[in-house]
Amino acid sequence: MKLLEHYFTNNENLKSEFRNFKYSFDDFILDFTSDNGVFSKDKIDFGSKLLVETILSKNIHFNNILDVGCGYGYMGISLSKILNTHVDMIDVNKRAIHLAQINIKNNKVDANAFLSNVYENITYKYDLIVTNPPIRAGKEVVYKILLEAKNHLNKDGELWFVIRKDQGAKSAINDLKSTYLIDVVQKSKGFYVIKAKNN
Ligand SMILES: C[S@@+](CC[C@H](N)C(=O)[O-])C[C@H]1O[C@@H](n2cnc3c(N)ncnc32)[C@H](O)[C@@H]1O
Repeated sequence: MKLLEHYFTNNENLKSEFRNFKYSFDDFILDFTSDNGVFSKDKIDFGSKLLVETILSKNIHFNNILDVGCGYGYMGISLSKILNTHVDMIDVNKRAIHLAQINIKNNKVDANAFLSNVYENITYKYDLIVTNPPIRAGKEVVYKILLEAKNHLNKDGELWFVIRKDQGAKSAINDLKSTYLIDVVQKSKGFYVIKAKNN
């Protein structure tokens, strides 16, 4: 039986077929290389773009940012370039990390991408943690990412995430209420952008 390959598995035998696309925001133009075996390999994901552009619209300065489940690096690299800030980027998918490293170099940003299962290789604390969580990895992983963010945020730090209404946005809001102050900052096409602040 052929096992279904999800984008978060490490399948080193999967044939490479690189593709490139651009992302523009104000005067910034970023180039991304993507490949088979990573999330949203052909285009920037709508939810990820909504999350990044909602954060950018707030004009907040963050000294450092962590992108959890970075994929090929769209969110972390865009935030690093446009906000001129250091970003750490983590994923369990080796191919995603390799692509994120290529994209960091090509876009000349102050960022590091490295393998980490959830926060296992994270020692720092951040002003901002962003994630478009891996729904297909299951609720346990998603909730680990959302709840354990608290341990990796500075005192006034914020976790921002994007989640679809039909993939558990409302229950996530409910389940996180006792850990964070929750604010639904944006809603578009069934996606919710949620800010969770240390309370
Ligand atoms: C929905 S995708 C978002 C990817 C990327 N941020 C983007 O916007 O294109 C979720 C990412 O989480 C990663 N992931 C899955 N399980 C993980 C885990 N346990 N720890 C860290 N990352 C994980 C997947 O490999 C995937 O790249």
